[in-house]
Amino acid sequence: MPHRLLSNNRAWAAATHARDPGFFTRLAQQQSPRYMWIGCADSRVPANEITGLDPGEVFVHRNVANVVVHSDLNALSTIQFAVEHLKVEHIFVVGHYGCAGVRAAMRGIRVGLADNWLRHVQDVRLRHRKRLDHLPPDEQENVLCEMNVIEQVGNVALSTVIQDAWARGQKVSIHGWVYGLTDGLLKDLRVTMDHPDGVVPVFGAAIKRYPRVAAPSAGGSLRAGGDVEDDEEDESADTAPRR
Ligand code: CO
Repeated sequence: MPHRLLSNNRAWAAATHARDPGFFTRLAQQQSPRYMWIGCADSRVPANEITGLDPGEVFVHRNVANVVVHSDLNALSTIQFAVEHLKVEHIFVVGHYGCAGVRAAMRGIRVGLADNWLRHVQDVRLRHRKRLDHLPPDEQENVLCEMNVIEQVGNVALSTVIQDAWARGQKVSIHGWVYGLTDGLLKDLRVTMDHPDGVVPVFGAAIKRYPRVAAPSAGGSLRAGGDVEDDEEDESADTAPRR
């Protein structure tokens, strides 16, 4: 029942005040989070709980499948406020394994209006299909969850907000993480971008960790890809800042 939430809230406020009597008056003055979290709206991936942070410590934006689109004024405005006014030092794009949005994009499942939003994740799948197609289905979904994070880290880094911040010497790093629903652990995808010249090489290095062909087995290696060099160049070129 909804009123359970209100009684929970009263108990939480009382316990928080008992633990730290200045907590609410201090936070009411000013928020000064050092971190921004861009995550999936999935109810199982709450930013504060997972990272052990209190209210006031992480600025949060969430949507279906943690997508950052260059024309999404909601996400861009949130990032701009976080960077230019709150001066956050670290932005984390956090995907999660078992993401229903990523699964729908991977399998071409129609869910309704959200298909148009998930088209962005389908685009990630298409772009890197040679690194995905040779994998077993479950692994394809996990890898697409990771690739989607890598792509969104690139999108944040290439946004005007971050490009302008770096141009004026502001220190802000973009990180890519993925969360495991089954073990509660965050994994760093080693795709941290912290200066303009790093965007393309960091993106390329992260994507190239996913091989284009099946791992060699006793029966020999299977080729699943086409012209490796051309496509790898395409992937790098696609992340180059266009100014
Ligand atoms: Co999700």
